[in-house]
Amino acid sequence: MSKKITIAIDGPAASGKSTTARLLAKKLGYLYIDTGAMYRAATLAVLRAAVPVDDAGAVEECVAQNHIHLELIGDTQHTFLNEEDVSERIRTPEINRIISIIASYSGVRVQMVQQQRALSRSGGVVMDGRDIGSVVLPDADLKVFMVASIEARARRRLKELEEAQVSISLEEVRREIENRDRIDSTRTHAPLVKAKDARELDTSALSIEQQVDIIYGWAQELI
Ligand code: DC
Repeated sequence: MSKKITIAIDGPAASGKSTTARLLAKKLGYLYIDTGAMYRAATLAVLRAAVPVDDAGAVEECVAQNHIHLELIGDTQHTFLNEEDVSERIRTPEINRIISIIASYSGVRVQMVQQQRALSRSGGVVMDGRDIGSVVLPDADLKVFMVASIEARARRRLKELEEAQVSISLEEVRREIENRDRIDSTRTHAPLVKAKDARELDTSALSIEQQVDIIYGWAQELI
C-alpha cells in the first residue's frame, strides 16, 4: 500500500495555491484543507460584530466566541461560521481589505492552528496557507512554496473576481495583493516565509495543470 503523506503549500496572495492544492488533493485522493478560509470566516465574524479591527483583545475575544470550522460536503470543503455556511460570503474585497490585520493577532492564530493540526493528524492531506510548512506542519513530508510575479497574480485574481461579478480594477486588485503580502510577510507571529526545506515553484508562466503535475511528481517521489 502506498504511504499517505502530508503536503504543505505556502505562498503569497493569489499565487495559485488554492486551486493547485485542491486539484492535487483530488488527484491523490487526499483531503484538501484551505486554511485561508478559516481566517476569512474569522474576519467575517469580526465585521459582523462591528469590533474595532485594531483592538487585538476584542478581535481575539470575538473570534473565540464564534465557532469556525471546515466540513467536507461531498468532495468539497465548506467553511462554517457557527451553523452558517459562509463559503461564498468570505471572498469579498471587504474581507480582503482587513483580513491581514485579523490574521496577524497571535490569539486568533492559536485558535486556527490547533484545528488545522487536528485535521491533518491522520495524513493524506494537502494544506495551503502562509505558515503551513513553517509553523502548522513543520514535519510535513513535502513542502512547496509557490510564487508568481505580481502582474500574473493580479490578472488571475481579477479574473476570479470578475467571474464572481465583483466590479474592481486591475490596479485596485494589485494594490490589495501588495498590501496583504506586506502585512502577511512582516507580522510578528508566523509570518509568510519559505520554510528552509521547501521546494519553490514559480507559477508565473505555468498553467494550473502544469502546476499540479509538477507537485504531483514531487509527491510521487515520496509515496
Ligand atoms: O489564502 P487566502 O488568500 O484565502 O488567505 C487570506 C488571508 O488569510 C491571507 O492574506 C493571510 C491569512 N492567512 C494566514 O495568515 N495564514 C494562513 N495559514 C492562511 C491565510
